[in-house]
Amino acid sequence: MTTALIILGAGLGTRMNSDLPKVLHQIAGAPMLVHAMQAGQSLDPARCVVVAGYEAAQVEKAALAYDPDVTVVVQDAQLGTAHAVAQAKATLADFDGDALVLYGDTPFIRPDTLAAMIEARQTHDIVVLGFQAEDPARYGRLVMQGDALDRIVEFKDATDAERAITLCNSGVIAADNATLFSLIDAVGNDNAAGEYYLTDIVALARARGLSATVVECAEAETLGINSRFELAQAEAVFQNIARMTALDDGVTLTAPETVYFAYDTVIGRDAVVEPNVVFGPGVTVESGATIRAFSHLEGCHVSRGAIVGPYARLRPGAELAENTRVGNFVEVKNAVINEGAKVNHLSYIGDADIGPRSNIGAGTITCNYDGVFKHHTTIGADVFIGSNTMLVAPVSVGDHAMTASGSVITRDVPDGDLAVARAKQENKTGFALRLFEKLRAKKAKDQ
Ligand code: UD1
Ligand code: CA
Repeated sequence: MTTALIILGAGLGTRMNSDLPKVLHQIAGAPMLVHAMQAGQSLDPARCVVVAGYEAAQVEKAALAYDPDVTVVVQDAQLGTAHAVAQAKATLADFDGDALVLYGDTPFIRPDTLAAMIEARQTHDIVVLGFQAEDPARYGRLVMQGDALDRIVEFKDATDAERAITLCNSGVIAADNATLFSLIDAVGNDNAAGEYYLTDIVALARARGLSATVVECAEAETLGINSRFELAQAEAVFQNIARMTALDDGVTLTAPETVYFAYDTVIGRDAVVEPNVVFGPGVTVESGATIRAFSHLEGCHVSRGAIVGPYARLRPGAELAENTRVGNFVEVKNAVINEGAKVNHLSYIGDADIGPRSNIGAGTITCNYDGVFKHHTTIGADVFIGSNTMLVAPVSVGDHAMTASGSVITRDVPDGDLAVARAKQENKTGFALRLFEKLRAKKAKDQ
């Protein structure tokens, strides 16, 4: 069965108190919309439609950045969830298969749960994802008739008896695409909120002799985000899940509660991550690598046997080959550190290639930026870069070459050469002693 996703994200999210559309607020380095899209991807959908409204251009940009094949439609006025789904009708007019409605502000739905819904579709026309709510509050209530779902009643429209129901609507609904839109067409807005409720399709379907059922999931999966507080809670939930998953996958975390993952962090078995490490988006750490305490990684790849940190910063495009070392207070950006090379202390390596086994001395800087353009530094194999060398790019240092400490290298260094680019040292005999005497005499006179 092929599936189309319809992800609702038109709401402003007033309670976020923000200029940013709610679905673009981030959890683990990705907009919550992307989390919803990612959950839906597990069904290998043939189509994905995002319904945007408030700041639609921004929402479209974020959706396309994650998946260039997504279609973004705009709901100009937020007249309700059924009205939101209706905006996807033209886009999916020719689609033959199941449609699954997800919310862009509900990021924790698990792939297994969605698979169970698609499975239930084999035997039922409408499948609704429900949950037993600890505090049902203002959720829509699922009114059952035996095993069948009879209808959904919104809190505002519910009787006291219906409000006593604890089985609630998550908002996720699956149905045959053509059936869904035919039911949506029949939804009116004669209710307490004056909105077009998606939830009304259940009663409409039953009246047409179609069947409806509920797949239940844990309440935690349906956690929706409406405020900054809930966003912070969602971040904590995500981090706890990511930490447990990493431990289960065989990663050593010495203080799991201090490590922060991104939505797409990949860490191999037997890698070690010390306390207070932060992973931004786009990081892959291979098996057996060690990330030492207080390091910050983003958009980078760390190979087997590499040791990073403590206190290292790997920025986008940092590629560390096997058995490399990037030590304390070293920043690496858009640079390849080839096998066995070491940058151990206090350096900036940006827009560079460091050849295998080369050693970069403490305090070395690739001066990659001239104020307008970025330039590249190439360092060959088995090179020794003396401490505090400034490599003024574009520049290259050949294989087996050396630079003297404190050099400012502005010209290429051929293979095997030693480059010395600093003022020659001069020793002035006894000068220091005489100078000290003079200074101390001055101090005594001044007091
Ligand atoms: C909805 C359900 C309710 C369910 C609850 C779960 C309806 C009528 N009610 O209520 O049964 O228990 O979710 O959280 O469906 N949206 C649009 N355009 C609109 C309206 C909403 O895109 O015109 C989007 C919102 O951005 C949000 C989602 O749809 O992502 C849900 O809307 P929201 O207003 O939060 O619905 P609830 O009233 O919470
Ligand atoms: Ca809601």
